[in-house]
Amino acid sequence: MAALRYHLTTFGCQMNEHDSERIDGLLESLGYERAAAPSNADLILLNTCSIRESADRRLATQLGNAKRFKAARPGVVVAVGGCWAQSLKDEVFERYPFVDVAFGPGQVDRLGEFLLSDSLEAQGYFEFGGFTADLPMRSQQSASAWMQISVGCNQKCSYCIVPSTRGRELSRPFDDLVAEARRLVARGAREITLLGQNVNSYGRDLRPARHSFSELLASIDAVEGVDRLRYTSPHPQDMRSDVVAAHAELESLCEHIHLPLQSGSSRVLKAMRRTYDRERYLSRVAMIREAIPDISLTTDIIVGFPGETEADFEQTLSLVEEVQFDGAFTFVYSPRRDTEAALITEALVDAEQASERIGRLIELVQRGAQQRAQRFVGRSVEVLVEGSSRTNPERLRGRTRHNKPVNFIGVADPGDLVEVEVTGATSTSLSGEATLLASAVR
Ligand code: 5AD
Ligand code: SF4
Repeated sequence: MAALRYHLTTFGCQMNEHDSERIDGLLESLGYERAAAPSNADLILLNTCSIRESADRRLATQLGNAKRFKAARPGVVVAVGGCWAQSLKDEVFERYPFVDVAFGPGQVDRLGEFLLSDSLEAQGYFEFGGFTADLPMRSQQSASAWMQISVGCNQKCSYCIVPSTRGRELSRPFDDLVAEARRLVARGAREITLLGQNVNSYGRDLRPARHSFSELLASIDAVEGVDRLRYTSPHPQDMRSDVVAAHAELESLCEHIHLPLQSGSSRVLKAMRRTYDRERYLSRVAMIREAIPDISLTTDIIVGFPGETEADFEQTLSLVEEVQFDGAFTFVYSPRRDTEAALITEALVDAEQASERIGRLIELVQRGAQQRAQRFVGRSVEVLVEGSSRTNPERLRGRTRHNKPVNFIGVADPGDLVEVEVTGATSTSLSGEATLLASAVR
């Protein structure tokens, strides 16, 4: 299959330029190639700015073009990032229904997750993560690297387009992955994120010898120089005790799990064909928290699935309240071609109701995340330095093992591991002051 091509247009300031460099790095590591013009791209990206009217006008033209290109070639994905997207949030989709993905400034890693996870053609926006959220440049020279471990998906979630577009799950050979981890470390990576539609079902299709996801985790952890190991996204069904034990046992495996929920109502989960119910999800969370009490948990939630009643939605709210997630990506359901759910014509949730529900959900998620984040205040945490803070160039920024962005006072270079004393926490980021170079303490 020919490589997918992308075209990126950047508006506005240095920060956007910087984000765009990361988008280039990210897409390159995902195997995308640059297209000379948006007219022949599979992925059209606009990294937007809302500071001046002139940028708005240029953007309007580009959006108009993207719409035309997509009308001519329906498979095209349109992604809009940056400040203008952040300011409009879900209104982007009301005003420009041909947009597939919207994300705020500094949320390039979310774009990566989005492109690689289930929703390449689902509408989604990331309300979560403010202007201070930032991320590593996931390019070849960076201390953080992505590694795709499988393609496709064997699940049959009724809303999801992936099984029809990307086919059966195919795992990359075990030894190739371990060798790639070594290569990445040799190039300067110290944090590796494993990516796949359903990472924890990795390896079942491998012949002659099958391998499990937890074996892969252990073998990559054993590679000298891998200080941090992450993965996204697992399916709750395959979140078994061996993977949970790996979190407790492997030094590099970070204290963060992104565990997509989708709905807190067992009835809706059944209609979504998620293969678990509310109780099963909660018992997985309990198992995780028993093994690693301090772990950060984040999730994906869809609101407005066909047939979702107010009572079903309240089940989602109550589960969110009960679990206390450290963050969540929320999506309004959108029907995708060739999916089972797209054929449902009864009891559809109208756009107004869905938007009202997602508003309530976001508020609850943010309140919970804000409370959860307070546990870090007063603690000393290990931070992988990414560069200078986007809101205050006098400060540095980085990420904790719990996957929280941190803005802090200190002297360090990108790629350093430092200890930071946390003095403040919002729902999306921490702030603090560096104490000692962690690598110096070791
Ligand atoms: N509508 C809305 N959200 C969707 N997602 C996947 N498909 C759809 C859809 N048709 C969301 C799921 C998934 C995330 C990456 O995208 O929550 O976990
Ligand atoms: Fe889609 Fe479900 Fe597979 Fe994820 S697990 S890619 S949501 S079918």
